[in-house]
Amino acid sequence: MEYQKLKEIDIYPLRDMSYDFLGIHLENPFILAAAPSTDNLDMVRRAFEMGWAGAILKTTSVEGNRVDLAYPMMSTFDHEGRKLFGMGNIDLISERHIDEIEHDVKVLKKEFPEKMVAASIMAGRKEDWQSLVERLEKAGADLIECSFSCPQGNIGEDPGKMLAQSLSATELTARWVKEATKKIPVSIKITPHVTDIVEVARAVKRSGCDALTASNSIQALMGIDIRSFSPYPNVGGKSTYSGMTGPAIKPITLRTIAEIARNVDIPILGTGGASTWSDAVEFMAVGAGVVELCTVVMHYGFRVIDDLKSGMSHYLEEMNFSSPAVLVGKALPNIVMHDDLQRKKIRSHINKKLCIACDLCYVACRDGGHMAIDQKPSRVPHVEWERCVGCGLCQHVCPVESCIEMHIMA
Ligand SMILES: Cc1cc2nc3c(=O)[nH]c(=O)nc-3n(C[C@H](O)[C@H](O)[C@H](O)COP(=O)(O)O)c2cc1C
Repeated sequence: MEYQKLKEIDIYPLRDMSYDFLGIHLENPFILAAAPSTDNLDMVRRAFEMGWAGAILKTTSVEGNRVDLAYPMMSTFDHEGRKLFGMGNIDLISERHIDEIEHDVKVLKKEFPEKMVAASIMAGRKEDWQSLVERLEKAGADLIECSFSCPQGNIGEDPGKMLAQSLSATELTARWVKEATKKIPVSIKITPHVTDIVEVARAVKRSGCDALTASNSIQALMGIDIRSFSPYPNVGGKSTYSGMTGPAIKPITLRTIAEIARNVDIPILGTGGASTWSDAVEFMAVGAGVVELCTVVMHYGFRVIDDLKSGMSHYLEEMNFSSPAVLVGKALPNIVMHDDLQRKKIRSHINKKLCIACDLCYVACRDGGHMAIDQKPSRVPHVEWERCVGCGLCQHVCPVESCIEMHIMA
């Protein structure tokens, strides 16, 4: 009720952000990723009412498949006072089987025909993969996402091994799934934990599947209690590797999406570390057609959609872009190999009027750079140009915006 009132006094009208992706009409590029937030009909209903364009329902499996969860399943990577900079989980797929998910898909499609209702699946045997797809397509799902990348292992695989780590298994299984669909698109959710992500993307493309979801959580050991030596999350004194998500993994995901998009012509659903509208712009600029979010929702709630939509809307307006779709791949021409980078000489320049003499650039350059910053006779630092190589470290440790800039040498 309160939320509705707030919406009514929103004085910034949002521009139309709708576009088509994989033949599906979307209100905006923001989709809920497969996770606890999408494992409950009422929660997804509420998210749709609040403005999310679609949801990937948490990964389901065939009836009779046992999902053996261990608790607690969450831990966090807090960094310098920031909670949940990274979040680790040892969750598995949903305990709710296909019969329940079929029901949810039917209800959601009836109540929200304009939303993208997608379902995520995992199986071991060919007949199970195929029956999951057939049943979900019949129930009205708009898209199927196949989890080939659960960090806690796949059904039928060795524990800890992900299907998407094998090229042949990826291609074969993706082919089974695609064969079983009639019309709806299939996306394969992959892991960045491979030697060559491009080869995995090529295997998916060869299978005939329509898209890739890149790229799930990052396997991590979240920490060790230094008194008891128990790892986190502490499950009776022991633990296992977690799937890490949230802001800490964004750069890994950006690289994964970019590397696929630069080499393979296949639509991408981006997931892994996006929290804000500008993160979403970055994901799209390196090749994602939509952005799936999970940890930010688990941290701050479905209401983050208001900021996502309003930020994206104003950005599109400011940049004079007609639709989010025009963002896709915009940064790719600027991602090149190291050999292709320019070799101009640059040097650091400190704006003395802005400098607060905090010492950080001086210490960083002295002990991690080229000893090119001096601070004598006063504490205000100055750059010795003949020593400075232009590495940029000082600029990145400086707490004052625009105080240190890199200048091209004449
Ligand atoms: C607690 C939890 C459970 C998840 N369960 C699933 C799942 O069942 N299937 C799946 O494909 N991804 C699952 N994910 C991964 C998310 O869909 C998403 O890809 C990942 O969290 C990265 O996005 P984020 O950084 O926005 O959280 C889960 C993530 C979390 C945190």
